[in-house]
Amino acid sequence: MNNIQLDSQNRLKHFLGIEGLKRDLLIEILDTAASLINVHEKAVKKVPLLRGKMVINLFFEPSTRTRTTFELAAKRLSADVLNFNIDTSSSSKGETLIDMLRNLEAMHCDMFVVRHNASGAAHFMAQHVASHISIINAGDGQHEHPTQAMLDMYTIRQYKSDFTPLRVAIVGDILHSRVARSNIHALTILGASEVRVVGPKTLIPKGIEELGVKVFHDLKRGLCDVDVIIMLRLQRERMQGALLPSAYEYFQYYGLTEKILNVAHPDAIVMHPGPINRGVEIDSTVADGVRSVILQQVSNGIAVRMAVMAMTLSTMESPSLKKEQ
Ligand code: NCD
Repeated sequence: MNNIQLDSQNRLKHFLGIEGLKRDLLIEILDTAASLINVHEKAVKKVPLLRGKMVINLFFEPSTRTRTTFELAAKRLSADVLNFNIDTSSSSKGETLIDMLRNLEAMHCDMFVVRHNASGAAHFMAQHVASHISIINAGDGQHEHPTQAMLDMYTIRQYKSDFTPLRVAIVGDILHSRVARSNIHALTILGASEVRVVGPKTLIPKGIEELGVKVFHDLKRGLCDVDVIIMLRLQRERMQGALLPSAYEYFQYYGLTEKILNVAHPDAIVMHPGPINRGVEIDSTVADGVRSVILQQVSNGIAVRMAVMAMTLSTMESPSLKKEQ
């Protein structure tokens, strides 16, 4: 499914998902992001890598962090950015995705950043879009959210340097989480020693062990000695039927508190893709505490999205990205 995202020289043409990508490519994304991380410290907070290119943000689902950091990333690369307002768009008037695509192509854009509630939407667009256009998946249904996974990997590498000895626990609503799926693929490809998923039976997909993870239903056991904890929100907008008794009860069993955090490694970091629900999956003392790197993840998201956009659209090889600064 992912081959479509690589060109004939195995360079990124689109960025649709982490599954099936090679370790070297993930490391190249992280290294390119590292070379772009300090652009905001320059007097002019820009590099000219995408000068003269047009990026369209096409968001069919609500988003705060992802959309704004994509916009900021495109602007720091000197691209022109158009935020397509889906509420007032023709999609609400019955226009098909393909017709919308053709019309937007006619505006001479070079890249679409797409968030859609249907799994596979970004992949579908990559198959149908004009050949000079790149598609970046900003989250498709319950499938993948590859730039979130890469900013998570960037943050982990920033604090832990080497992936191979790490035990990582992903906690919460795994069933509906595209972040969980992309992170499981990324951590496995980068060689983390153990990836755990922790949550109630109703929120863990059947057969997930096939992805190489260990399943835990008890939070304390699942967090024992881990180096990294990735907390997830209950994605109620994707739940059909009653999968949980109540938010209050969920917090009693799966909420991350200071007390439970003590079973993890003393240097463990706490991550969350946002938006966080205080008092549901995470206690405020942990979210705002010294081990939380949640806001660092948001900052890192800008450089990681710059890296992915530059690698897919720039005609230069990534070593020259460094020179270009
Ligand atoms: C995530 C998403 O949209 O998949 N958030 C994000 O991109 N920052 C996770 C979520 O919505 O819970």
